[in-house]
Amino acid sequence: MASRSRIAFVACASLTLAAWALFAAASGQTQAVDAEGHPWWQHAVFYEIYPRSFADSNHDGIGDLNGIRARLDYLRWLGVDAVWLTPTFPSPQVDFGYDVSDYRNVNPEYGTLADMDRLIADARKKNIRVILDFVMNHTSDQHPWFLESSSSRANPKRNWYVWRDSVKGNQPPNNWVSLFGGPAWKFDPRTNQWYYHFFYPQQPDLNWRNPAVEQAMFDVTRWWYRRGVAGFRLDAVDTLFEDPDLRDNPLVDHQRNAYGDPVEREIYDRNLPEVHSVLQRLRRVADQSNAVLIGETWTQNVAGLKAYYGAHGNELQMPMDFLFTMVNQLSAPEFRRQIAAVDAAGGWPVYVMSNHDIPRVYDRYGDGKHNDQIAKLIAALYLTLRGTPILYYGEEIGMENRDPQRREDVKDPIGKLGWPQEKGRDGERTPMQWDAGPNAGFSPATPWLPVGPRFAAYNVAVEQKDPGSILNFYRRLLALRHTDPALLEGRYVPLNDNDASVLAYLRSYKGRNVVVLLNMTAAARTVHLDLAAKSVQARAASPLLVSSANSKANGAADFALEPFGVYIGELR
Ligand code: GLC
Ligand code: CA
Repeated sequence: MASRSRIAFVACASLTLAAWALFAAASGQTQAVDAEGHPWWQHAVFYEIYPRSFADSNHDGIGDLNGIRARLDYLRWLGVDAVWLTPTFPSPQVDFGYDVSDYRNVNPEYGTLADMDRLIADARKKNIRVILDFVMNHTSDQHPWFLESSSSRANPKRNWYVWRDSVKGNQPPNNWVSLFGGPAWKFDPRTNQWYYHFFYPQQPDLNWRNPAVEQAMFDVTRWWYRRGVAGFRLDAVDTLFEDPDLRDNPLVDHQRNAYGDPVEREIYDRNLPEVHSVLQRLRRVADQSNAVLIGETWTQNVAGLKAYYGAHGNELQMPMDFLFTMVNQLSAPEFRRQIAAVDAAGGWPVYVMSNHDIPRVYDRYGDGKHNDQIAKLIAALYLTLRGTPILYYGEEIGMENRDPQRREDVKDPIGKLGWPQEKGRDGERTPMQWDAGPNAGFSPATPWLPVGPRFAAYNVAVEQKDPGSILNFYRRLLALRHTDPALLEGRYVPLNDNDASVLAYLRSYKGRNVVVLLNMTAAARTVHLDLAAKSVQARAASPLLVSSANSKANGAADFALEPFGVYIGELR
């Protein structure tokens, strides 16, 4: 794998080239790690693309691979090192690609295999790696495996899915409900049994207790590694296994969810320990191609997240930390608590603020008055921490949700089922806003989802020209985190632990201290840092990146911050 120019920068800046380490993986391929022992993905910035909504090259209103390829220069300009594409495989698109009917091809709406090969090759030339989305838990009900499996009880693929008899006459095998509404079992009159689906009925769960399933699925990853993908984002890994005895989940009082289903404590259908053995074996396959595995690892707490790293780092290199996505208000104490917990867990943190299932930052934290400042504040938070950030497309220009207003406009099936309580995920999946022209420059045709409400002001072309834009703030921040040794390598040192308004920390590396101050309130604040408490000596601070000149230092320990102000500076 090609060495990275910014790794080279760090090496020249602070270390000798002789200290570079190369290790040979089992396959005999080599993988560069920098002098501190970091593989490429630890210093990379990942960018999640929802292909259907990124850029439409053939003018059918649907984004596609050639559209993405045409925008690689933008991604390079921004400072992106790897893109994760949500599923691009052939699919009936019930769950917009998360219902895969062929793991070894490209959905014709998005292009061809040759287009994918070109995208991977062109991206590589620009030092951008491509990560695909591996939907492990289930296939589409149109996948040939399921068509065979459902054709008869005697079919050799019968045991590739989870089939069970009725109980009590004609009832489903137990009380489990689908995350997407209704019972988790669907009756098949042809063979007189039920099949299990954690998600939509069109997404039957694979039976991961069957070694043939494991082998077939692992082979899929090998096939893509040979085509040059750098790794996978693993979909819904906590749902791979179910209790073999199919025990009923306990109910939570008498609560009902947006679909009218009973709320259950998901102890028998989620997060079973067997998941970890499968992921460890999948990691061994990945290691043979120096690939990286990113997990969609929803956990209740950091202890759950920690388990996904594996005992000796032998499981997922990048289990995503979703705990930030559950912080729904700007709260310095709450973010401080989450960062400390993850940072102490021992693994390399992976920070996520939003994605194609979660409302955008603008909507979660915006106060209606300072939304642009807040978008920059959040960027300064997750892009200055120790760990790898995954940026969701459009966050860098301040895109906001556009939730459907009427049930008949909803595309995401859960939004139809749960309307109006659950409006679905269309709102965070709207077309990327490239310019102020028709359909925000996404496509000359009517896009599959309407563009965001304020695209005329919030788009790439307009923001590239405005030095004060959210986009240019992101770009400067990414340039800084790619080159500043303290931001790349430094320890996370929390400061002023009891400040309810300002989140303050250092990134500290070999005597270089970068201070990050984030005012999470709508009032101007002054901050006095207790540096002595952390044994840090400094006489002055010089800014590296600030939200505006109104956020400034007075000496090394005193700062003034505007409302929602950001100060990032070096202590000397
Ligand atoms: C994951 C995906 C989500 C999808 C689900 C079922 O949670 O992120 O979009 O609907 O898995 O595959
Ligand atoms: Ca298209």
